[in-house]
Amino acid sequence: MTSPDQASGQRPMIEFRNVTKTYDGGRPAVDDLTMDIDRGRITVFVGPSGCGKTTSLRMINRMVEPTSGGILLEGQDVSHRKAAELRRSMGYVMQSSGLLPHRSVLDNIATVPRLNGVGKADARKRAQELLDVVGLSPDLGRRYPGQLSGGQQQRVGVARALAADPPVLLMDEPFSAVDPVVRAELQEELLRLQRDLARTIVFVTHDIDEATILGDKVAVFAVGGRLAQYAAPEEILRAPVDDFVAGFVGRDRGFRHLSFQEGHNVTIHPVETIEVDRLADPTVSVRSPWTLLVDAGGRPHGWVPQATRGSITRQADAVPGGSLYRRGDTLRRALDAALSSPSGLGVTVDDDGRAIGVVRAAEIFDLIESARLDRGRAEHNTAV
Ligand SMILES: Nc1ncnc2c1ncn2[C@@H]1O[C@H](COP(=O)(O)OP(=O)(O)OP(=O)(O)O)[C@@H](O)[C@H]1O
Ligand SMILES: [Mg+2]
Repeated sequence: MTSPDQASGQRPMIEFRNVTKTYDGGRPAVDDLTMDIDRGRITVFVGPSGCGKTTSLRMINRMVEPTSGGILLEGQDVSHRKAAELRRSMGYVMQSSGLLPHRSVLDNIATVPRLNGVGKADARKRAQELLDVVGLSPDLGRRYPGQLSGGQQQRVGVARALAADPPVLLMDEPFSAVDPVVRAELQEELLRLQRDLARTIVFVTHDIDEATILGDKVAVFAVGGRLAQYAAPEEILRAPVDDFVAGFVGRDRGFRHLSFQEGHNVTIHPVETIEVDRLADPTVSVRSPWTLLVDAGGRPHGWVPQATRGSITRQADAVPGGSLYRRGDTLRRALDAALSSPSGLGVTVDDDGRAIGVVRAAEIFDLIESARLDRGRAEHNTAV
């Protein structure tokens, strides 16, 4: 029996019902898995190596068959679908981009639509559009995968998975082979894409940070293929159900939790600014120890320390600023901005990227502390 997805009033997109997978009669790789995967959301499977994440993912499109139990896709048992056709109806992205080395990027992206009978010209045209969707420049389409960076290859992998316009996207550690900076970019891109596309995405990772950044819901798997906890990321960080999940989430979960604490109460202080064009003007004096350099549009471009005022005459000479804080973003971002800034002041921008002031680390710490106390009180009240 299944229950409709309560939040949307719709049936879940994917339903695991008592699914067990045992390879070669050994211990179960997936053990009696029952869970619903919401339509149009990102669900992340996270857990240590060997806990059955890939196996669970692959049972959705029948790359792996369950030993017992069943999986429903939009209410239909997937075992009644033709495996090859089912596979092509879902996007699949894996760790190594899995691109065909002897085919151009465009032809790689067009692979599944071609298999589905789309004409060559139409498939290529769509592939060209998808390059833009995943943030790649159009001229990369003619290259071969070996001529792209790792991050670019993963983007092509995402484009290829999107080419057949699938309602479901399965992603198995798609960003784990790239360096942390590129990885963060790819995560941002995926969230941006998902805001427009609203696909049902099942995303596998062994990185709890990645899971909490991307997931609308996170499923933590334990060794032996057991689903240990399945909840919103905030809840998994705030209230791990057992020692295994607590250990997996880690000691610094208090810090991770900040990612969910909204920063609306952070005080934004005024900041003295100087426009790039006026840097070389000796009649313009600055009073603050740190003056923010902005362009004609008010966007920040670094800091001018008072001591160096006379010697800084070009934008390139300014002291590079830290990360920017967008008004209303989380406390974690606010703290990042303040701590990464050479002035200790976190540059705050509006939605158009214009500097509107600065935030101070000490004040953010105070907000974090009071939020922590509030949370402690709330937990105490629900516990008694
Ligand atoms: N084709 C197979 N034949 C036999 N055993 C397998 C096969 N595929 C996976 N297993 C076993 O099933 C268990 C779960 O494997 P799975 O690949 O699903 O784990 P995972 O969570 O994706 O791990 P990782 O994080 O390392 O990718 C492991 O013990 C693994 O050795
Ligand atoms: Mg795996």
